[in-house]
Amino acid sequence: MTTKVSAEEMALQRDFIQKVAEINGKGAPPVAHVHTFGCQQNVSDGEKLKGMLAEMGYGFSETPDGADLVIFNTCAVRENAEDRVFGNLGALKHEKARNPKMIIGVCGCMVQQAHITEKIKRSFPHVDLVFGTNALHTLPQLIYGQLTEHKRKFFIPEGDGVIAEGVPVRRESALKVSVPIMYGCNNFCSYCIVPYVRGRERSRELSDIISEVKDALKNGAKEILLLGQNVNSYGKELNTSFSELLRRINALDGEFKICYMSSHPKDFSDELIDTIAECGKVTRHFHLPVQSGSDRVLKEMNRYYGREDYFKIIDYIREKVPNAAITSDIIVGFPGETYEDFQETLSLVERVKFDSLFTFIYSSRKGTKAASLPDPISAEEKGRWFRELLDVQEKMGENAYSRYVGGTFRVLCEGVGRTDSALLTGKTPQDVIVDFEGDKSLIGQFVNVKIEKALNWALIGKIV
Ligand code: SAH
Ligand code: SF4
Ligand code: F3S
Repeated sequence: MTTKVSAEEMALQRDFIQKVAEINGKGAPPVAHVHTFGCQQNVSDGEKLKGMLAEMGYGFSETPDGADLVIFNTCAVRENAEDRVFGNLGALKHEKARNPKMIIGVCGCMVQQAHITEKIKRSFPHVDLVFGTNALHTLPQLIYGQLTEHKRKFFIPEGDGVIAEGVPVRRESALKVSVPIMYGCNNFCSYCIVPYVRGRERSRELSDIISEVKDALKNGAKEILLLGQNVNSYGKELNTSFSELLRRINALDGEFKICYMSSHPKDFSDELIDTIAECGKVTRHFHLPVQSGSDRVLKEMNRYYGREDYFKIIDYIREKVPNAAITSDIIVGFPGETYEDFQETLSLVERVKFDSLFTFIYSSRKGTKAASLPDPISAEEKGRWFRELLDVQEKMGENAYSRYVGGTFRVLCEGVGRTDSALLTGKTPQDVIVDFEGDKSLIGQFVNVKIEKALNWALIGKIV
């Protein structure tokens, strides 16, 4: 079964780009405001929305004030992400009253859920256009429809998801470039909405990825971020693998850094760790979401590994990749989690000594398996556990960066300093922020930086 959007369909969308550009060419250049919520995957989709809009003649604004077109590219992962979108949408009501010609569109993960589109239909009549994650590449046709018919439209194509190659991209940065390698997720972690809103796992052809990376490098990219919900299952249906992809990209000419996200511990094989150890361009940062330290909860979460499996992966990384940075995601208050289960998470955090943690309180997502489980622990109690976890991590993370002091690392100069704008900033191969003295002409180049001092969120160094 092919999931690739046909060449004819892509050509049709290019025709619509031309048609919209002609309409827009008749007046003052229109302005679009695209607001992306959520993960890097969504940010990458936002770059495509902007790429198509730029070719249709739109300029861009940082705020919706006075814009001709507003698009919210939404995230559904937790309730507060959705609340933020509804808050922003509500605020647009007045703007639209002042400027009735404004077109308001909502796309992304939220609108793949029927109860959300119903709510938009009912309670947000000022929204003109709603389109799903599989319809992203049809934006030109949808905008043409809005400009010519002025009719409210909801377009959420069914199916397991598509791959659209050749969509124009307007990148946020030429230096640090995101390249999606796969879409969707098959893991169905019991708490997670992503597989429902992003469809089934599907990988881009290796050759499509390599040529996009080559183009980016030719245009001056120094950091390539490979994106997928679970990059280590890349290529399964294409008889290739994430290791193979990393080796191929690592072998391309020039000095650049390869990053990737996200990875799932269940597929983080020794072979992949060996590959990373051998590929000098690949980041020394391992973000491996563990979610919980309790075997019982991990099973309920449908994660397919236990805490001992996780420790084995961590130990092998530390053996093979000296000075690796290890970070993770943790969910507190999964339905049925007991205080004893939670203590197991704390003991895991103490054992692994993460460089940093992203911590979340469980948020029930309609339609997921976990949403139907009994959840007797109160929000206050979960809040106390959450703070307990933060305290433990703070203690573990204290002085975590001091181990870098005295070391010298290859660092890409990304811009002006985060601690002081008279300095330059970049990241070590472990993705730790480092600020250092240097001339602004070095931005975009790699330099050797010797670390002199560790703060608790960044390093201070000196070019050597
Ligand atoms: N595909 C990625 C991450 C997806 S979402 C991965 O598997 O690593 C990023 C993080 O959000 C997850 O790692 C998890 O910790 C958190 N998360 C996902 N669903 C959640 C929910 N319903 N409630 C709270 N946190 C959640
Ligand atoms: Fe969600 Fe699990 Fe897929 Fe990550 S791997 S997106 S947490 S279902
Ligand atoms: Fe959110 Fe969708 Fe990403 S739900 S986390 S934007 S894949």
